[in-house]
Amino acid sequence: MSVSLTGQVALVTGASSGLGLGIAHALAEAGAAVGINYNAHAEPAEQAAAEIIALGGRARALKGDVSHEPDAIALVDAMVREWGALDILVANSGLQQDAPVAEMTLAQWDKVIAVNLTGQFLCAREAIRQFRKQGRRGVSKAAGKILCMSSVHEVIPWAGHVNYAASKGGVGMMMRTLAQEVASDGIRVNGIAPGAIRTAINKAETEGEAAERLLRLIPYGRIGEAADVAKAATWLVSDESDYVVGTTLFIDGGMALYPEFRGNG
Ligand code: BGC
Repeated sequence: MSVSLTGQVALVTGASSGLGLGIAHALAEAGAAVGINYNAHAEPAEQAAAEIIALGGRARALKGDVSHEPDAIALVDAMVREWGALDILVANSGLQQDAPVAEMTLAQWDKVIAVNLTGQFLCAREAIRQFRKQGRRGVSKAAGKILCMSSVHEVIPWAGHVNYAASKGGVGMMMRTLAQEVASDGIRVNGIAPGAIRTAINKAETEGEAAERLLRLIPYGRIGEAADVAKAATWLVSDESDYVVGTTLFIDGGMALYPEFRGNG
């Protein structure tokens, strides 16, 4: 199986670090032109674009806050201005602002819901508008593909992270509802639910003694790498997965399998 995205145009939000950055590189390697969205950190996004271009690919760093409606609209517009179309959206931007519930401020709740859930809604809506406007372009079997970044916490409750877990539970239902609504337009919407993948978001949990505790929750026995997610994401937005619609793919080494029950509960 070879995964090719030749001739396709992809926007990856939150792509200046972590999973988004890995996915942007993987999509470019598969032949897509890639918009590398960032909000605060221009430098790593510009650098990623330069690296892709140096390897003969097409890429551009694009600033924008996905939770801000005019920015979400401008991001899709910028893709169309630059490359004439949009074929793939990876709605990846996300953050954590953790606190026990009694200490969690409304600002922390609002921020996480705004970026992780509303941001995905706004970008998905703009992508769907563009997919419908341009129609099938002959570069893919689908008329457009959207990949929503979820988490194992779409299904695993997470004490001390109620804003994050609620946002990802919401992403799961938003994804399935959008998939149901737009599949007849030839648009495929799917999700990815990573477990513990080594990135900046969970540095404290994935190093030293904390990593040993974390490994007890991962039946497969290793912490994931960004490449584990990037490869699956590339497949999920390619024609190799053309019949996959409205599914969340868990990439978690078995974390969502209730590992506490391995010893008979
Ligand atoms: C979170 C990480 C966490 C992982 C497993 C992810 O969605 O962003 O911080 O390590 O879930 O709990």
